Amino acid sequence: MLINREKAETRRLPMLPIRDVVIFPYMMTPFVVGRESSVRALEDALAADKKIFLATQHDASVDDPKPNEIFQVGTIVQIVQSVKLPDGNIKVLVEGQERARIVSLNDEEGYFRAVVRPIHQKTEPSPQLEALVSRVNSLFEQYVKLSQSLNYEVTIAAVRVEEPGKLSDTIAANLQIGIEEKQELLETFEPAERLSRIADILDLEIEKLNMDRSIQGRVKKQMERAQREYYLNEKLKAIQKELGRGEKAELDELKKKIDAAGMTKDAHEKALQELKRLEMMPPMSAESTVSRNYLEWLLAVPWKKKSKEIRDLARAEQVLEQDHYGLEKIKERILEYLAVRNLVKEPRGQILCFVGPPGVGKTSLGMSIARATGRKFVRLSLGGVRDEAEIRGHRRTYIGALPGQIIQMMKKAGTKNPVFMLDEVEKMSMDFRGDPSAALLEVLDPEQNHMFMDHYLDVEYDLYQVFFICTANVTHTIPPALLDRMEVLRLSGYTEQEKSEIAKRFLFKKQMKSAGLREENLRLNDEALSATIQNYTREAGVRNLEREIANICRKVARKVVKEGRDLQVRVTPENIADYLGILKFRDTLAEKTSEVGLAIGLAWTEVGGQILTTETTVMDGKGRLTLTGKLGDVMQESAQAAMSYLRSRSHELGLDRDFYRRMDIHVHVPEGAIPKDGPSAGITIATSLASALTKIPVRKDVAMTGEITLRGKVLPIGGMKEKLLAAHRAGIRTVILPKDNEKDMADIPEPIRKDFQIHFVEIMDQVLQVALERPIGALTERPPEAPIATEFKPEDVSDQESLTH
Ligand SMILES: Nc1ncnc2c1ncn2[C@@H]1O[C@H](COP(=O)(O)OP(=O)(O)OP(=O)(O)O)[C@@H](O)[C@H]1O
Ligand SMILES: [Mg+2]
Repeated sequence: MLINREKAETRRLPMLPIRDVVIFPYMMTPFVVGRESSVRALEDALAADKKIFLATQHDASVDDPKPNEIFQVGTIVQIVQSVKLPDGNIKVLVEGQERARIVSLNDEEGYFRAVVRPIHQKTEPSPQLEALVSRVNSLFEQYVKLSQSLNYEVTIAAVRVEEPGKLSDTIAANLQIGIEEKQELLETFEPAERLSRIADILDLEIEKLNMDRSIQGRVKKQMERAQREYYLNEKLKAIQKELGRGEKAELDELKKKIDAAGMTKDAHEKALQELKRLEMMPPMSAESTVSRNYLEWLLAVPWKKKSKEIRDLARAEQVLEQDHYGLEKIKERILEYLAVRNLVKEPRGQILCFVGPPGVGKTSLGMSIARATGRKFVRLSLGGVRDEAEIRGHRRTYIGALPGQIIQMMKKAGTKNPVFMLDEVEKMSMDFRGDPSAALLEVLDPEQNHMFMDHYLDVEYDLYQVFFICTANVTHTIPPALLDRMEVLRLSGYTEQEKSEIAKRFLFKKQMKSAGLREENLRLNDEALSATIQNYTREAGVRNLEREIANICRKVARKVVKEGRDLQVRVTPENIADYLGILKFRDTLAEKTSEVGLAIGLAWTEVGGQILTTETTVMDGKGRLTLTGKLGDVMQESAQAAMSYLRSRSHELGLDRDFYRRMDIHVHVPEGAIPKDGPSAGITIATSLASALTKIPVRKDVAMTGEITLRGKVLPIGGMKEKLLAAHRAGIRTVILPKDNEKDMADIPEPIRKDFQIHFVEIMDQVLQVALERPIGALTERPPEAPIATEFKPEDVSDQESLTH
């Protein structure tokens, strides 16, 4: 089989043009022969020495290449195996033997016969060649490692050859490069040259592969991330699906509820819209919770549910009587109000507002009205509400937003026509977060409240059928716009007798019941009850009284538990301290002695009437007037007026004409925690000053109230009933009142009025005549004259500079 190379100058062989592959010597290649002419050439070769010449055609797509379309250098191969396939094609395995160049080519209708000249070139061994061989070897090793399509073990084993020519051809056969490049290698005859060309190619290819790799790495990373996310998402979906089984059912349920809730058209649309959004959201997501909460609120407020109103006035009257003692005027007024609401189909009524001191039954009247009219009752305290959002809610864009109190209360009521009590309207304040009273105005205004807008709910809600009642302790701090819409019903404090009736008829029974006592367990006689009222409470209403009674009941209940169900306890003034502890209030005034500069005034405060003492001291000085005790502007002006009056009467009072120049005067109204204002302390301050200046004590058993003018006239004041009740509670029986208030006596309960000795006065002189221990004779001689221009000014305590001269 060995060819004698010296002799083999040229050889005549059948030739096959091949496509897409360049055959190198030493290379084993399988291929299929299909063209008829090629089959014939093959058969010829098989019949002879099984040798054939293979050359690559320029263009793989050409079926019948002409001789000039075939590369001139090819390889003589030995056919190792040939198999005829069923379709007539022949599959052959050939082994490259030597490169050869075409000398001439005969084309007999596509069947080529070629005369070729084999090419043998050798390179003499040299260190450079050796170095080149090892370089190519190591490059090729790297190349195979990087290449993904070559099997490392197999390929490296295949090229483990020493001879440079053979090595270069084997490597060339294994390179994954273009046909052109391969053909070029085939046509590079000198082995060393071929090797260095291969080294260049390998360098380049390795670089390309490295680049590919890093790009691929990046691509792969991206792919991985995307895949990971996809995977996790799918998994999440699966979990959610697992968890949210029945979610569909739940949404259907919600839909049903929405349809059944009787919402307004807007609200219904809004709810359905929200439901649609909810369906799109993953069930466990934060936003779906928000969405769900919103829908729950929409469903929770009453849209159509109503209490059946009772319009029977007789029954209403009965209920009011059952629940409250006294309060005749108020009850009447309430019944009138209800009557109007019955008659007028769409009552554009005023809002009721109960005003009065604590514990006089404002809240419980509201509850009674609810009971009398068959409505539900809800109560909202506005004390300290300073933010519009508390009334109207926060927009849903805020995290944790909720509807405002109005809507929350409507939810609580569960019906759209409850009695809605707004407690402490006067204690609502305003700050930078918006004015809550403006929002409240909208709530209370029948013109507007059928389309009340809560920021959270974000749909109009109809408050028209709600029966609003406000309560307040005083009216002067209620914003005027609000007050304007209200029908004010004033509740005043109770007399001792009224308190004891309320206690006997209501409080006592109520507390016995809640302590679980039976009637025979506890008897509290009248004396004990009035001792409780007088010595343990001092208030306009009955709240503390109720508390004290509850105290007694609890103590007795403990005894009953200890000593048996049949225990009978009698509470009397003698043993009452066992139940209520030491006296909280005693008739302190009775123990007091009359003092210089100390006058007792009657004041009207939020908690009802109060007695308020005024103290004055006079010391050597330069004409300073200091006022302390948290006095408001009006009260300070009263003090100035009083001072001017005294200066104008200095002669009659037996004082030097310029007495004030040599002294400092300090007026103090104790109980500093209570801010005090109003003009009604005028005559009290004047009396206190006069006493301090003349050194004549003020009677300890006299209380007074009235405004003073510069000329010393006494003007009428308000809150007469509360003030007298307070004086009565304090054990005072002589009072000085402005003459013009005489008409108010009709309001004063008879039992109280008859206890008092009342002096109605017109001028300050008369006050002093009654109030001071010793009369000042000169005062009756001359009526007050025009005042001298005042030089006294009230001063702040901190400001110690004299304002005179
Ligand atoms: N005329 C009355 N008849 C029967 N019970 C009364 C009467 N007045 C008040 N009460 C009872 O006194 C207690 C306190 O009354 P309520 O809570 O209504 O006072 P209020 O006027 O609302 O006070 P506040 O201004 O502090 O809210 C209640 O238990 C109430 O039933
Ligand atoms: Mg109340």
